[in-house]
Amino acid sequence: MAERLFEELIAETKRLFQEKYGTEPKILVAAPGRVNLIGEHTDYNGGFVFPMGIERWTVIAATPTGAEKATIWTNNSGAQYFPRVGAEFAVSGEILPADKVEWTSYVQGAIACSIEKGAKVGGFNAVINSNVPLGGGLSSSASLEVAVATLMEELSGHKFGATEKPLLCQKAEHVFAKMACGIMDQFVCSLAQKDCAMLLDCRSQEFEAVPMTDPAVSALIANSNVKHALSGSEYPERRASCEKVAKLLGRELLREVSMDELIASKDKILAEEGGERLFKRARHAIGEDVRTLKAKDALVAGDWTTFGELMYASHASLRDDYEVSCPEIDALVEIAREIGEAGGVYGSRITGGGFGGCTVSLVRTDKAESVAERLGSEYAKRVGKEATIFVTRPTQGARVL
Ligand code: GLA
Repeated sequence: MAERLFEELIAETKRLFQEKYGTEPKILVAAPGRVNLIGEHTDYNGGFVFPMGIERWTVIAATPTGAEKATIWTNNSGAQYFPRVGAEFAVSGEILPADKVEWTSYVQGAIACSIEKGAKVGGFNAVINSNVPLGGGLSSSASLEVAVATLMEELSGHKFGATEKPLLCQKAEHVFAKMACGIMDQFVCSLAQKDCAMLLDCRSQEFEAVPMTDPAVSALIANSNVKHALSGSEYPERRASCEKVAKLLGRELLREVSMDELIASKDKILAEEGGERLFKRARHAIGEDVRTLKAKDALVAGDWTTFGELMYASHASLRDDYEVSCPEIDALVEIAREIGEAGGVYGSRITGGGFGGCTVSLVRTDKAESVAERLGSEYAKRVGKEATIFVTRPTQGARVL
């Protein structure tokens, strides 16, 4: 099923390239979206995250032209997000971010930051095609940046180091898309391995592929179809609160503060303006690191029940302490919990930046279809909206085809 989806996306991308430019593309690259199983809003605190690549991709078809600029068209087979438009992109000289952030910002940013890291290219023609849902917390933007950086490697013949590519893509997101994200998304879209989740230590940037080979368990992703806009004030506000608490306790990163220490310092934090809120934000980030490491052990042990409980606890913490959920997402998690293990659900939580977007649930593969049906119909009944649901196994990071 997933393979067919991938092949269809590739075939469509080639066809669009042929339509636009009248030739076959010379290069094809793909980068997946991602879902985070647990470890939310911990990356910018130097903590742990546990994401995996999903079977939804950004694909780019391209051919060098030797022209002065690159011409890139985008299409999205899932419709809504990328306009069917083309634009020109600079590949030399000083490349500056545009004032207004659009889809072109991610592309131009990844081109500029790749060149800065040594991937010098001439002009090229390209078509970008993606079926990663936009604004759903599944890293459509990191997937796009990483696909572009992978294309830049192919076009230039200059290979980036393993962590160099995600870091340059993160820079593109910071500078060109003006979103102060952490490193999780670009790392997993670049370096995910098939049938593995990725445990990433965001302080040391060391990562480990943790086998999730049991085909009896899958990730079920339910898009609430409530859009999030992370570049708003919410994400930077959360980040700043965490940084403030770390500083107050004499540390660079919240990762370096234990739960005991946080609790012992409660009065000191409460004495600050908005202290109650600061305390709750920090309690989430510190508790989430502990949960993430426990979840890794549970995965290794094949203990899905424990993994699921940790997901529910993560959700409660993101809802109550970090306050990044919303009623629609809470309803999806509640319904998943009601379906329960007997119905095929081990656990469920909000995933990604928050304020809408998707939930991720761990489900029994043989019951995934009935879970999706029950989740979808109950959601429609309670919330009055359609959820978009799909099931995925962990897939490989960026690659050249
Ligand atoms: C967004 C950011 C990530 C991470 C998550 C929350 O996806 O891009 O860096 O902070 O939110 O876990």
